[in-house]
Amino acid sequence: MRHTLVLALVTSALAGPVLADDLRDLALETFKPLPSTIPAVKDNPITAEKIELGKALFFDPRLSASGVFSCASCHNLSTGGDDNMETSVGHGWQAGPRNSPTVLNAVLNEAQFWDGRAADLAAQAKGPIQAGVEMANTPAQVEATLTSMPQYVTWFTDAFPGEAAPVSFDNMARAIEAFEATLITPAPFDAWMNGDDAAMTEDAKAGLTLFMDKGCSACHAGVNVGGHGYYPFGLIEKPGSDILPVGDKGRFAVTETADDEYVFRAAPLRNIALTAPYFHSGKVWDLSVAVTIMAESQLGEELTPEETTQVVAFLESLTGTVPQITVPVLPVETASTPRPDSMVK
Ligand code: HEC
Ligand code: HEC
Repeated sequence: MRHTLVLALVTSALAGPVLADDLRDLALETFKPLPSTIPAVKDNPITAEKIELGKALFFDPRLSASGVFSCASCHNLSTGGDDNMETSVGHGWQAGPRNSPTVLNAVLNEAQFWDGRAADLAAQAKGPIQAGVEMANTPAQVEATLTSMPQYVTWFTDAFPGEAAPVSFDNMARAIEAFEATLITPAPFDAWMNGDDAAMTEDAKAGLTLFMDKGCSACHAGVNVGGHGYYPFGLIEKPGSDILPVGDKGRFAVTETADDEYVFRAAPLRNIALTAPYFHSGKVWDLSVAVTIMAESQLGEELTPEETTQVVAFLESLTGTVPQITVPVLPVETASTPRPDSMVK
């Protein structure tokens, strides 16, 4: 009798750590901890000079026609790398069609934008500068602006040594990409995957188990817990037009294939607790509501309130440490710097 009891106690004591390791093994098959160094990007060797230049450009509102909007206006690094608005407000106070996703860890996405229409960050950066509702500028005007300031010319020359015309729209995009590649945010989930048992709460671990068992990780996987693969929003049950506006057909606009109607990139979920409101429409402010909608629309599942709380606790364990960033002092304008134009064209 006594022996059996002791045996049972020993077995259950052993079961704890064994289970924890099992969960970690399963997690490591599905996700990946963040790299400990700056990830490499295609055709754009990252150097300290490029990162510094890219940081200045990221914060420089003079890349916009009005002189009002910088990348940081809609991707505020103090508030999770987004703008916390339903949809972004840009040039001439116009509201854009979509919610601003975070730039944190964006380098790890397979492609950029909610519909994946830009292959990488360098291609992406050229979009907002020219978008009428965002920065409303032209490549020629950006080059004229940058060339008018000797400090920028020096920085571009240092960042792109040996090039005949270092100050160019393309190099601007490369430098921004290099800066964005530094924006990776190690989180408690990474510490736990790397072996620190105490880094995640019991609720977060229960949430991780649910996230994998229920099938969220079929779409949201890999190092960025998403950011790869395209799926219909409403795979099982289409959400109402209040959340999934009929006008935005997602990837259909990119591929013009009927199968891609209302298809979007599986959103990357790192720092998701910081980046409300949710979905490309920005219609949902509460993370637990977003989780409930996902469970219903993508999996046909109804989570209990406790399960929802646990999944949210797991998602909170993806909130990482933003790298320390000193605000750059930008080059001063000269007599030949194009003047801001705030007119809506
Ligand atoms: C007026 C607001 C606004 C400005 C200014 C702006 N963005 Fe964005 N950004 C957005 C919105 C909205 C999206 C999503 C658009 C879409 O998916 O169609 C986006 C998407 C992105 C993405 C893709 C992230 C992902 O997960 O796919 C990156 C990276 C990014 N912007 C970087 C930049 C950079 C760099 C600049 C400056 C050159 C910039 N943005 C300027 C609003 C803005
Ligand atoms: C079949 C693929 C699929 C499954 C399964 C899935 N998702 Fe998603 N998820 C997506 C797509 C696609 C989006 C982008 C939706 C949009 O366009 O707004 C998304 C968006 C989200 C968002 C909002 C992201 C943001 O930045 O606003 C959250 C949160 C989320 N998913 C959590 C979950 C959870 C939790 C589960 C499991 C209960 C889950 N997802 C299951 C594909 C999926």
